[in-house]
Amino acid sequence: MAIFLSKLQIKLVIFISLILLSNNNVNGRRYHITDSFDYTAISCRAHTASVTDFGAVGDGETVNTAAFKAAIDNLSQLATDGGSQLFVPPGRWLTGSFNLTSHFTLYLHQDAVLLASQDVDEWPLIDPLPSYGRGRDAAGGRYTSLIFGTNLTDVVITGGNGTIDGQGDLWWDKFHKGQLQYTRPYLIELMYSDNIQISNLTLLNSPSWNVHPVYCNNVVVQSITILAPVNSPNTDGINPDSCTNTKIEDCYIVSGDDCVAVKSGWDQYGIAFGMPTKQLVIRRLTCISPTSAVIALGSEMSGGIEDVRAEDILAINSESGVRIKTAVGRGGYVKDIYVKGMTMKTMKWAFWMTGNYGSHPDDKYDPNAYPVIQNINYRDMVGENVTMAARLEGIVGDPFTGICISNVTLGLAPKTKKVPWTCTDVEGVTSDVVPQPCNLLPQSSKKCDFPLESLAIDNIEIQTCSHTIKYLQK
Ligand SMILES: *[C@@H]1O[C@H](CO)[C@@H](O)[C@H](O)[C@H]1NC(C)=O
Ligand SMILES: *[C@@H]1O[C@H](CO)[C@@H](O)[C@H](O)[C@H]1NC(C)=O
Ligand SMILES: *[C@@H]1O[C@H](CO)[C@@H](O)[C@H](O)[C@H]1NC(C)=O
Ligand SMILES: *[C@@H]1O[C@H](CO)[C@@H](O)[C@H](O)[C@H]1NC(C)=O
Ligand SMILES: *[C@@H]1O[C@H](CO)[C@@H](O)[C@H](O)[C@H]1NC(C)=O
Ligand SMILES: *[C@@H]1O[C@H](CO)[C@@H](O)[C@H](O)[C@H]1NC(C)=O
Ligand SMILES: *[C@@H]1O[C@H](CO)[C@@H](O)[C@H](O)[C@H]1NC(C)=O
Repeated sequence: MAIFLSKLQIKLVIFISLILLSNNNVNGRRYHITDSFDYTAISCRAHTASVTDFGAVGDGETVNTAAFKAAIDNLSQLATDGGSQLFVPPGRWLTGSFNLTSHFTLYLHQDAVLLASQDVDEWPLIDPLPSYGRGRDAAGGRYTSLIFGTNLTDVVITGGNGTIDGQGDLWWDKFHKGQLQYTRPYLIELMYSDNIQISNLTLLNSPSWNVHPVYCNNVVVQSITILAPVNSPNTDGINPDSCTNTKIEDCYIVSGDDCVAVKSGWDQYGIAFGMPTKQLVIRRLTCISPTSAVIALGSEMSGGIEDVRAEDILAINSESGVRIKTAVGRGGYVKDIYVKGMTMKTMKWAFWMTGNYGSHPDDKYDPNAYPVIQNINYRDMVGENVTMAARLEGIVGDPFTGICISNVTLGLAPKTKKVPWTCTDVEGVTSDVVPQPCNLLPQSSKKCDFPLESLAIDNIEIQTCSHTIKYLQK
């Protein structure tokens, strides 16, 4: 007689077998599970432990901040012995902010959810970023990001699409009511670090920005899904900030602010710190951002932004495509920007450049610090249901120069302005662009540039890491 088992029955059989096979069966309630998984990463690790080895409980209620700290403190001893990996099993793991270590991987099982604590005391304060001079929400310190690291090397945060839920409503509410004493935390922030990989995760409801590498070198962000309500405040997706050699690939972002916001410090603080974001690649990004940009350059760009290459971008229902935001007082530059292959569906502005973005850290900014915006290249794009083709506003006496737009066809929305382009204080050329551009961007036969040689970040070595872990489960 054939026996057909339902999925539930199969699960029960496995469950019971696990209990019977367990060699460490405490009161019949805790049993060992064996899990195998593999993934690709910049480095594999010699040692793996589960956060449950350090007392963590994945019931969604127990606070696990101390368990994460104990686990990572313990594993940090293995940095020079092949490195270590912390495995987070299926469950809902409530935690406050914790710090990472070097030569370390945080791996979230596909059914693991890190739940950010709603207790403000679980978020210690750290100093404002030197390149900003102050916090963005409030003048003083900042709440440490949920997952934080500084002065590290060789760090991987990954999983089989496991979830990090920032439970941001508490913070959004405080922001809207003007009750924030300090700047809101981010979900992931790494400072002064190199060789970083953040991949195969889902990030939900961040209190503010989602992924913030700052003063970093060699950063890969890959296959990340970022979701936040489109009306949530400042829930930017990925913000490379004063970083060199960064790659953002295959990400899907729906958020209340810019999907990718490239930055490098604010006014006199950013000028003094002087660290640009450069050699940045963005590929295969899908973005929905009804109130913001798909890719924003600035507005904090006082350390400079250069050599940014974006290709194969899909923008849906977003306010603008690539947007340059700056102001007098910023200083710095945005130059050598290349965008190729972008499909836009329902946009307010396909192209937007803003020279009077305002918002200064304090009144000590230098009124003579003019930003330099030059060599901006956009090509091979199509748009449909676009309200305005372009709004390009440079700075009086400081025009944005070397703008090139070629092979771009924008279908306008039924309700659209009579003049689809508005341009002031900009210089450049266009070719094969529909609808017809403004007079400041006359026609030429030039196909806009896109560099052929690859950047160093595209040549980093990737390994396949295979692991089997046995851990205790309740
Ligand atoms: C932490 O590391 C030490 C080795 O330094 C090890 O003996 C100990 O068992 C570890 N603690 C836990 C809870 O795994
Ligand atoms: C995390 O790192 C920061 C910066 O080094 C430090 O101020 C803080 O005390 C660390 N937190 C913990 C819990 O170790
Ligand atoms: C981290 O690196 C920066 C820049 O090199 C340095 O100024 C800072 O003191 C370092 N911080 C720590 C905690 O080592
Ligand atoms: C990570 O995501 C990529 C692209 O979606 C996929 O090919 C790969 O299998 C994923 N890896 C893991 C470990 O889930
Ligand atoms: C990861 O999970 C998110 C949220 O459930 C889902 O939208 C996305 O498609 C998943 N990605 C992959 C590669 O499975
Ligand atoms: C123009 O752009 C489209 C994508 O929008 C691309 O498929 C096509 O090859 C481009 N044409 C030329 C001549 O480069
Ligand atoms: C076109 O854009 C408008 C907003 O400007 C939106 O309401 C409408 O649904 C869009 N139409 C299509 C066909 O996507």
